[in-house]
Amino acid sequence: MILVAGGTGRLGSLVVRRLARSRLHVRVLTRDVTRAQHLSDVAEVVVGDVRDRLSLDHAMRGVTTVVSAVQGLAGPGNVTPTSVDHEGNMHLVDAAAAAGADVVLLSVVGAAASHPMEIFRAKYAAEQHLRASTAKWTIVRATAFLELWAEVLGKGIVFGRGDNPINFVSVHDVAAVVELAVVDRNLRGQIIDVGGPDNLTFNQLAAELQQVTGRSRQVRHIPRWLLRAISPLARRPAAALVMDTIDLTFEASPTAVPELRLTDTLTALRMATSAR
Ligand SMILES: NC(=O)c1ccc[n+]([C@@H]2O[C@H](COP(=O)([O-])OP(=O)(O)OC[C@H]3O[C@@H](n4cnc5c(N)ncnc54)[C@H](OP(=O)(O)O)[C@@H]3O)[C@@H](O)[C@H]2O)c1
Repeated sequence: MILVAGGTGRLGSLVVRRLARSRLHVRVLTRDVTRAQHLSDVAEVVVGDVRDRLSLDHAMRGVTTVVSAVQGLAGPGNVTPTSVDHEGNMHLVDAAAAAGADVVLLSVVGAAASHPMEIFRAKYAAEQHLRASTAKWTIVRATAFLELWAEVLGKGIVFGRGDNPINFVSVHDVAAVVELAVVDRNLRGQIIDVGGPDNLTFNQLAAELQQVTGRSRQVRHIPRWLLRAISPLARRPAAALVMDTIDLTFEASPTAVPELRLTDTLTALRMATSAR
């Protein structure tokens, strides 16, 4: 049995379907069963909250591998990177170790203790906890999901100047790597970086999106001074400000998954916009 925490999310839902297609038994951990309705034909659903260690024991019955695709940067339920990505993942790792299960942890390319973004620090702390635990582990570090940002840009909004190159990867490619990390136990003890083929600025990505949709729309920039002013009040503008200013590029190189064929940006955008 594979437990997918975050199985209701953008990446997690794809991972659940891929694992089920490979005839594996899958259980989705969610705080709210109604969010897992679209997966009820392929997976068991269990209620739990990674911030509540005791709620995880029940979910762990018969589990051989836990996938953590949770995130607390945004979303319902007063989540934070510290409470979900750091402490929640620690609870999940401890529960998995107690049950003798392996862990595949979703992290971010560039995760580091001194990173300016809270979520990068939280992921790094979770990685360290996992590596020190008795659980066997694989860490999958991904760059920014193209489909998420295409959705934001589809609303005609660019945070900041939008001229900082960023690596975007298709969430479908990340799901393929996660599936491999679950089934191939030779990947235990490895950190796999997965990024897309292009480093693009938000302005370039907005132009490519307009090319795909055939709709030209005036893009509104939320200026840096405004992001800076509201940063102390909200996590998202603070993250957007950092994304507009620091190096988030990535050069794809042969990884632990040499057979992975990366989806090019235009194809990923076409798939994302036709699926909406
Ligand atoms: N988005 C990106 O650009 C990006 C880039 C690199 C890495 N990642 C990582 O990839 C993973 C998937 O990201 P995503 O964008 O697909 O996520 P998402 O769509 O925002 O989904 C977030 C998931 O986290 C779960 N979750 C949040 N708080 C929880 C809690 N307290 N207890 C249990 N579950 C909780 C939610 O489950 P319920 O609401 O059903 O409880 C949901 O399934 C995350 O680990 C993320 O950090 C994302």
